[in-house]
Formats: sequence, structure tokens, C-alpha cells
Amino acid sequence: MFGRRTPNADVRSTPDRFAFSPSSTYSAASSTVSSKSRSGNNPVAVAVRSIADAFSGCFMPPEPDASKSYGVSGDLRAPSVASKASRNSSERTRGIYVSSYNSMQDREPGSVTFTMEEIYAATRNFSPSFKIGQGGFGTVYKGRLADGTVVAVKRAKKSVYDKHLGVEFQSEIRTLARVEHLNLVKFYGFLEHEDERIVVVEYVPNGTLREHLDCMHSSILDVAARLDIAIDVAHAVTYLHVYTDHPIIHRDIKSSNILLTENFRAKVADFGFARLAADTDSGETHVSTQVKGTAGYLDPEYLRTYQLTEKSDVYSFGVLLVELITGRRPIEPKRELMERITARWAMKKFTEGDAITTLDPRLERTDPTNFVLEKILELALQCLAPHRRSRPSMRRCAEILWGIRKDYRELSPPDFRSSSRSERSTSVREE
Ligand SMILES: Nc1ncnc2c1ncn2[C@@H]1O[C@H](COP(=O)(O)OP(=O)(O)OP(=O)(O)O)[C@@H](O)[C@H]1O
Ligand SMILES: [Mg+2]
Repeated sequence: MFGRRTPNADVRSTPDRFAFSPSSTYSAASSTVSSKSRSGNNPVAVAVRSIADAFSGCFMPPEPDASKSYGVSGDLRAPSVASKASRNSSERTRGIYVSSYNSMQDREPGSVTFTMEEIYAATRNFSPSFKIGQGGFGTVYKGRLADGTVVAVKRAKKSVYDKHLGVEFQSEIRTLARVEHLNLVKFYGFLEHEDERIVVVEYVPNGTLREHLDCMHSSILDVAARLDIAIDVAHAVTYLHVYTDHPIIHRDIKSSNILLTENFRAKVADFGFARLAADTDSGETHVSTQVKGTAGYLDPEYLRTYQLTEKSDVYSFGVLLVELITGRRPIEPKRELMERITARWAMKKFTEGDAITTLDPRLERTDPTNFVLEKILELALQCLAPHRRSRPSMRRCAEILWGIRKDYRELSPPDFRSSSRSERSTSVREE
């Protein structure tokens, strides 16, 4: 199931993850593409590749500035993993759980963590009023377990005969079960019961980054908050990449997979596409696998070669940085042609010395903000390099972001510097 270098020849298309056609490309800003083809004739791969090709022509990253060095924080060290998995031998119901959560600790080790009854009780029989989202995997519900723990219950679409969903489900489970980090959504457990497949994860209460950039939460994220979010994401992904047991490539870094806490801390979610990274000790440099990810975030080299490395996440992170700065979605179909692919447009403006045009109009144009704008776009340019060897590591991205934040704070007025994180989003300004 997790074998490396196993090409897949079929294309899967679901209502949530539709296959691309050139005509649908520009309406796919937040849709997920899942292509399993190596064929050059596959319309998905062809269409996505055409975006990527258009993209890759315009990015010539500057050489990274090796003279700058930033302090290395303990933040990036992978903490020891406290997760323990246990399995139930029941024929019809299987579950694993992570026992490191305070409110879950009273559960007996080895017991089935979740039963359907518990899930039904937690979600009031999957009541529509408890529904909080819908994605390619299925429907997401908010729930409360008997011990009071508030959780997000991800209920897979009932495509039991779709073995690919099964593969994706298993992938999410295996990955989630292994990792634990402040900036990653915590995994509580899963349940397979007849045709139900359910993942239970930490509920993160403050919506997705994309929702905040779209001002759906009655406040706008200021520059400092956006910088902190970028750093949180860089920490989480660095953790995955340097994960001691098995380096993990996330493969679907995007703003709807960044969940925010009440305090505007970012937590990276959705490991459904994750695959174990190449084992560098054994001499492998990449994993060759099916193309998965989301339109607008996909690494062009991965699309071209089907070779997946950590640098594919770095590319997606570059797209995310541009999103944070501009507030725009990676693909904006309604804009004029030159502006439809946001990163391409922003990089062009940046290299022409016109970065200010790309700043989210909701952000105030101040000197510190302009400084952050230039520096973030400079980093994005490196992340978006067409060839992975030219991209910085995620750890390096985090280091560069620390430096930007430090300089930004020094440039900012003292009263602003002392404000707390939760105060650093401001009310929506009407355009
Ligand atoms: N742990 C969580 N806590 C709170 N809300 C969540 C959580 N996980 C998901 N959501 C909500 O449910 C929505 C759907 O999530 P899901 O991961 O299924 O799809 P997606 O990330 O939007 O798209 P895709 O399937 O392409 O990744 C999210 O946009 C978010 O609003
Ligand atoms: Mg998601």
C-alpha cells in the first residue's frame, strides 16, 4: 500500500476532487486534483502540467544569501513521540488511538477507543447542525465525547468500493498516528465499522486560514499575525520533514488545511495525501508516486517527473506565502489573464520592483509592512523555484522567517510590539 515507486494508471474523480480539463482549470482555485496517471495524455496531468509549465518559465530564484545566519530555535527539533497505537481484534470494528491526551488518558489501553455509539453520541447522529465542513475525504462534524473532549469527526464518503479512498484513509491514519507537534492537528483515533470510516482529530475552533483571508470571521489578520502563521506552518512542516522515524511529506499544504486557534496559532491539518518520504539513509533521494495535491499549489517538477520530495511542500509553502501577502487565492479565475495565477503575477511584480501592488488591500501600507512584503516575496521566489535543488529547505524557510519577524518587530512602534497575539487581528475594514 505504501510501496514506493509504484506507478498508478487510473484517474479518480469525485464530486469534491474533480479531474482537470483545460477549461476547468481556472475554476479550480480551492479544488483538489488527484491524478494517478503517468500517461502524458491524461487530461488531468496535461492540464495541471500546463499551469506548471506556464509557471516555471518565470521563476529564476536569486542565490540564497548564505552570509545571513539566524539563530536556531529548539522549536524545530522533533519532540519524542508520545503516541501509542492499539488495535482491537473485533471482526467488524477496528480502531487505533493516541493515548497522550489528558482528557483521553482514562481510556483503557488496548480498548477500542471509539465505537459507533460514541461517534453517534458525539455528533448527535451526524446531525446536520454539527456539520462544520466538507472536503474531498468527506464530511467533517464537530463533536463532544463523553469525557467532554471537543473533537472534529471526519466521516469518509461512503465509497467503500473505492479502494483509493481506502488507501487515502489508511495513509491519513498511519501518518496521524505517528506525529505530534503543537502546530499539527492532533490525532485522537479512527474507526472502521462496516462501510463507515471515521477519523477523530482535535477540533480547532477558529476556522481556516483561507476563511480569515476571505474575511469570513469579522476581523482581518494583520501582518504580524500572518508572519506568525507562516512561522507556525514552517515549524510544523519542518517537523514532518525531519521526523526522526519516517520523514513525512505533507503533499497538500494549502490555506484551507491551515486551521487557526482562538489565539491565532496555526495548526496544519489533513494528512490524507501524506506519504512517507524517501529514506535518505538507504540512498533514495525521492519517492516516485502518483500526483496528488491541490491546483495552484502543485510543484511543477513533481508534476513533470512524478518524483516527490520535501521540496514539493516547500513549493506549496511558497504559494501559501504569496497567499498570505496578497490575500488572494492561488488561482483567481475572474481576474484578467495576467493576474489569474496569483504567484506568477506576484513574482513578476516583485522582480519588476513593484511588490507594493501585490499587498493585500486590507493591510495598511506602512514601512514595516512594506519590509515584510518584500522579504516574504523574496522567500516565496526561492520556494517557487522551478527546480527543487534551488529551493530552500523548510527549516531554512523557518530560519529566514524568524529573521524577518525579528527585523519587523524592531521596525514596528513599541506599543505594537507589546500587543498580544490575540489582539493582532483587526476589525474588517469595509472596502
Ligand atoms: N480539525 C478540525 N477542526 C475544525 N474544523 C475542521 C477540522 N478539520 C476540518 N475542519 C473544517 O472542515 C472543512 C473541510 O475539511 P477537509 O479537510 O475535509 O477538506 P478541505 O481541507 O477543505 O479540502 P480537501 O479535501 O481538498 O483537503 C475545513 O475547511 C474546515 O472548515
Ligand atoms: Mg483539509
